[in-house]
Amino acid sequence: MTEVSLTGPAVVTGGARGLGYSLAQALAAQGSAVALLDILPDVADSAARITAEYGVRAIGLVVDVTDQDAVASAFTQIAAEIGTPQILLTAAGITVWNDSVDVSAAEWRRVMSVNLDGTFFAAQAFGRGLLAAGLPGSAVFVASMSGSIVNVPQFQASYNASKAAVAHLGKSLAVEWAAAGIRVNSISPGYFLSDMTAQFTEQNPELAREWVSRIPVGRMGQPGDLHGLVTFLASDASSYLTGQDLVIDGGYTAI
Ligand SMILES: NC(=O)c1ccc[n+]([C@@H]2O[C@H](COP(=O)([O-])OP(=O)(O)OC[C@H]3O[C@@H](n4cnc5c(N)ncnc54)[C@H](O)[C@@H]3O)[C@@H](O)[C@H]2O)c1
Repeated sequence: MTEVSLTGPAVVTGGARGLGYSLAQALAAQGSAVALLDILPDVADSAARITAEYGVRAIGLVVDVTDQDAVASAFTQIAAEIGTPQILLTAAGITVWNDSVDVSAAEWRRVMSVNLDGTFFAAQAFGRGLLAAGLPGSAVFVASMSGSIVNVPQFQASYNASKAAVAHLGKSLAVEWAAAGIRVNSISPGYFLSDMTAQFTEQNPELAREWVSRIPVGRMGQPGDLHGLVTFLASDASSYLTGQDLVIDGGYTAI
């Protein structure tokens, strides 16, 4: 039997703010040491707040997840400082709204690079460390309901395609690493309140109303609505659950 302790060290990409930071808090609340990776320079401050609030070890590293070597180096540093990561949450992600006929090669590549390449590079470093140490682990990729439905009214084909790929990457790695006791799942949130969505809804409250009109539970998700699912996936409570994408969207995709 393989065992994954929820108190194993965790890495959270995109952990400086938004859903990543909130989910790092949830893991820390269960006793995990956490390492936050982000391009934002205040990622170290975010880590310090987690230590102050939950009393666990937390480090924040400025790392661009699109840089494979930088991600690998960060995992080596994290293993030395807080132990080999046994939990991975990939929340680093970007979205760009644009008509597809106007999308440049650079814009397309940036979205794919952060959302898909970045997820892969983090997972690769995570798997490499666990396989070398002979340890089990659990990875949770933050995909999106946009990987299985097409949002309206905004156009975001690059984001939608990248998130579909993230979910299938999770299934692929789950099969590849299952025998080693490494589980890989993805979560697909619907519309959640975060820094990412605030930039749109604050400028355009009518847009938020339009989104909410399509959500059966009648509100956007709060970051805390993801805590139970992610701590479940990170823990032994989900020991036989791997290779799945779990949609958490207030019922959006049910209608
Ligand atoms: N908010 C939503 O409604 C929603 C819904 C579904 C999925 N998601 C996904 O959840 C994840 C978190 O989104 P959020 O809403 O909290 O957004 P956010 O913009 O608040 O947070 C994303 C974080 O990723 C970091 N980041 C961006 N590019 C990076 C890079 N190259 N390297 C390292 N870090 C990088 C940002 O600095 C930021 O801290 C994203 O993957 C997003 O696609 C969000």
